[in-house]
Amino acid sequence: MPDSGLNETPPRRADAESVAIRDLAYADLPAVVSIEHRSFTSPWSPGMFVLEMSKESTVGLVGEFEGRIAGYIVLSRYDRAWHLMNVAVDPDRRRTGIGGDLIATAFGRIGEADPVTLEVRASNRPAIALYERLGFRPAGNRHAYYPDNGEDALIMWRGDPAAAGVPGEALGER
Ligand SMILES: CC(C)(COP(=O)(O)OP(=O)(O)OC[C@H]1O[C@@H](n2cnc3c(N)ncnc32)[C@H](O)[C@@H]1OP(=O)(O)O)[C@@H](O)C(=O)NCCC(=O)NCCS
Repeated sequence: MPDSGLNETPPRRADAESVAIRDLAYADLPAVVSIEHRSFTSPWSPGMFVLEMSKESTVGLVGEFEGRIAGYIVLSRYDRAWHLMNVAVDPDRRRTGIGGDLIATAFGRIGEADPVTLEVRASNRPAIALYERLGFRPAGNRHAYYPDNGEDALIMWRGDPAAAGVPGEALGER
């Protein structure tokens, strides 16, 4: 995933009341895929969204601002851990609290005690800053994980990986 750059002067925060967070629906996919294409060098296809949304364990949410979809999140459960599969905010609406609100709302849906993991490009400092703020901690690297540029993935966990059956020695450099 690309590094979208660190903003020196964040824009004004959106009013909490002005961002409506609701379930992701198939009808949202054109708007979601548009944001996806403006957010990632290797974007998910519509079919990838449909596949994740078809799983019973998936939590998919969108955030609407002034009647338009401004961001989305997809979280899926595999075995004993939740995986933060995708999150993005419209480039024009970033740094106004929407990404953090989406993640916090998704956590509210799955239960605070459940461990959550994700992979993020090592260069994606905005996302890593957001994840750390929400309680994720680095737990190893996947070497050359991203085929488009050979970049490493940073693995992060929120909660105890051991509770998801992942032994400590499995979290090192790979
Ligand atoms: C990562 C992303 C979803 C964050 O969404 P967002 O709505 O801009 O994030 P928020 O406004 O909720 O930010 C919350 C906190 O995260 C951190 N943060 C977010 N963006 C940051 C940036 N550009 N620089 C530094 N810190 C940042 C800050 O601590 C921020 O709090 P603050 O604004 O009070 O300082 C957004 O940048 C994005 O869509 N990036 C492209 C897609 C992507 O990389 N997704 C993650 C893939 S793993």
